[in-house]
Amino acid sequence: MFDFEFYNPTHIVFGKNKITQLDKLVPAKATALITYGGGSAKRSGLLDRVKGELEQSGRNVLEFGGIPSNPRFDVLMEAVNVVRENKVDFILALGGGSVMDGTKFISFVSYHEEYFGKERELIHLVNLPTAVAPVPFGTVVTMPATGSEMNNGFVISDGEDKLPCFSPALFPKFSILDPENTFTLPARQVANGVVDAFEHVVEQYVTYPVEGRFQDRVAEGILQTLIEVGETTVKNPQDYDARANLVWCTTMALNGLISAGVPQDWTAHMIGHELTALFGIDHGRTLACVQPAIWKVRREQKKAKLLQYAERVWNIVNGSDDERIDAAITRTEAFFASLGVETRLSAHGVKAADIDRVIANLEKHGMTALSETRDLDLDVSRKILETAL
Ligand code: NZQ
Ligand code: ZN
Repeated sequence: MFDFEFYNPTHIVFGKNKITQLDKLVPAKATALITYGGGSAKRSGLLDRVKGELEQSGRNVLEFGGIPSNPRFDVLMEAVNVVRENKVDFILALGGGSVMDGTKFISFVSYHEEYFGKERELIHLVNLPTAVAPVPFGTVVTMPATGSEMNNGFVISDGEDKLPCFSPALFPKFSILDPENTFTLPARQVANGVVDAFEHVVEQYVTYPVEGRFQDRVAEGILQTLIEVGETTVKNPQDYDARANLVWCTTMALNGLISAGVPQDWTAHMIGHELTALFGIDHGRTLACVQPAIWKVRREQKKAKLLQYAERVWNIVNGSDDERIDAAITRTEAFFASLGVETRLSAHGVKAADIDRVIANLEKHGMTALSETRDLDLDVSRKILETAL
């Protein structure tokens, strides 16, 4: 096992009607800004309920709505102005990964524009300084998917650029995880969330063995749980227990626990971000197309863990190594399909002629040495994209 540090200060409050705890969790006398997305929180009545909770103790409560999926730089900068002009001292993100990520950006940039500079190049954000004090923020999660509610990463977009950033200062103070707040999600988004969490796990698990036995078994437990509840929670959104398991799996899939001390890949995510930026494909859906292709192209490098995945997650024990790996890939694709998620880029209208644009963007963003072994260059990315068509 590799050496590691594990740090995660986010306070999780899980269960039904837990927004009633907001009065206790958000500092009294704060000027609080609620950030939200394109309107689902308004339509469901959750925004009004959250606002009512915060106003109880005479807080000054402001709102900033309209953060789009794959949150955009220009929209977020409008929110930064609201924070500065009103001296906001607490931000509450009410939404999915896009609102939570956007809120991390707002929180950071509001106090630290100097690190961002005047240039709009997102690349400047990637290496955030470690010792910064952002505007404190918490989250009320409405979509289980990204794990943003308990990690320190965010992904923002500007035109054809979409890049991930991290800072140890950007863990939420708290996150409220009430599965019932996710019941209004359309099936398509629930499926995206199942795939995203599944992918977060395999990016940290299907690499090469380092005797991380605990990490492997937690990873396998999350994958098996997602397989067990995936179809049920997509088809029966009001099944509380299935949704509760999805919510907790998505949070635990990307909060630092299973990545501690083991190699990490993230190729599917880096290629996936380019596909979202260029073609508007939902984040989870990009991963469902790219991951099986990665395993087909990188089966030798990942052989030991692919065989472990086949046996422990899918109970595939018969056949040659190649047959078992093929069967595991087929089962994974069938699982995504059972959720209504396509596993070929052509299903999203991407054509062979588009691959050059993806490769050009990967190069522009410095994504030229990907994977757990850093030897996945642009030629291999091209092969993966061709395989994923
Ligand atoms: O905008 P509204 O109207 O709220 O609608 C949203 C949006 O259209 C809707 N939605 C959310 N909660 C709902 C709801 N609709 C009805 N009822 C509810 N309860 O769902 C749609 C998708 O929401 P979004 O937040 O965009 O989805 P997701 O949670 O998948 O987040 C995607 C973003 O997170 C980034 C992705 O790259 C992408 O930009 N990621 C962030 C990560 C992180 N911070 O660690 C890791 C991930 O790998 C990912 O990259
Ligand atoms: Zn993801």
